[in-house]
Amino acid sequence: MSISSFLSKKFLKSLFFPAHNRGAALPRKLVKLLKKQPGYWDLPELPEIGSPLSQSGLIAKTQREFSMKFGAKGCFFGVNGASGLIQSAVIAMAKPGEAILMPRNVHISVIKICAMQNIHPIFFDLDLSSETGHYKPITKIWLENVFKKINFNEKKIVGVILVNPTYQGYAGDLEPLIDLCHRKNLPVLVDEAHGSYFLFCENLNLPKSALVSNADLVIHSLHKSLNGLTQTAALWYKGNLVNEHNLINSINLLQTTSPSSLLLSSCEESIKDWQNKNSLSKYQKRILEAKSIYKN
Ligand SMILES: Cc1ncc(COP(=O)(O)O)c(C=O)c1O
Repeated sequence: MSISSFLSKKFLKSLFFPAHNRGAALPRKLVKLLKKQPGYWDLPELPEIGSPLSQSGLIAKTQREFSMKFGAKGCFFGVNGASGLIQSAVIAMAKPGEAILMPRNVHISVIKICAMQNIHPIFFDLDLSSETGHYKPITKIWLENVFKKINFNEKKIVGVILVNPTYQGYAGDLEPLIDLCHRKNLPVLVDEAHGSYFLFCENLNLPKSALVSNADLVIHSLHKSLNGLTQTAALWYKGNLVNEHNLINSINLLQTTSPSSLLLSSCEESIKDWQNKNSLSKYQKRILEAKSIYKN
């Protein structure tokens, strides 16, 4: 069987990523675009569109608008998943030979970039729930104890990585953790791959997004926790602890010179869709249903 034949197959259920569920939850504007003649939308980096790193063009304009709306200094779309943007964020924080403090449940993309760049990962342990077998979210006391055990003079520690929510869906209160790191002048990168919607869905008593909790760098996987196409992602940044030029250079190092216009449009539409009142109320209903399933 060819890949294309497999992709045409009907499944009984699709309880896997991407979260749009085989198109069922794709934003309306993206569906409209996809209904055009096949391939019509596949355009190169034309000046009118630009790329995530351009100063002008539609992508730059949308990224600026989103940053202003959500209280970030800037944001960049990505077409190589959260993995690609996490890797750019890591090399924006640390130079070869420097160290980053990170929990043992970091995503494999972090380990790969540390290996490639000779960045030293300093792992810390996490509390494990004997009931579920899953790691518990980090508390302020837990992180304070981690800091107490670290010899900050031994290696040049230049930042901290946190994963929130975890792969299994647990989230904690990030603000006190980020505050603790900031008091040591350490920037914080939060892998919020599974919690993009925290930033766009208010009044549901969801965990506060890392961006609202003052993280310096926040990564969203838009195909995992919004309704973007596979590979779509976004990086948000704020504060002054991470050098903006380092960040732009790092994204430039790892980004393709031909980002897919379809994926970039999907980045934009998946975030815009959560600002549209009608779609937002649908997503809010789903979230409330999920909460009630969890409770029962
Ligand atoms: C916690 C976490 N971060 C990052 C990623 C990478 O996301 P992406 O598939 O968008 O590259 C994953 C993927 O499973 C993940 O579980």
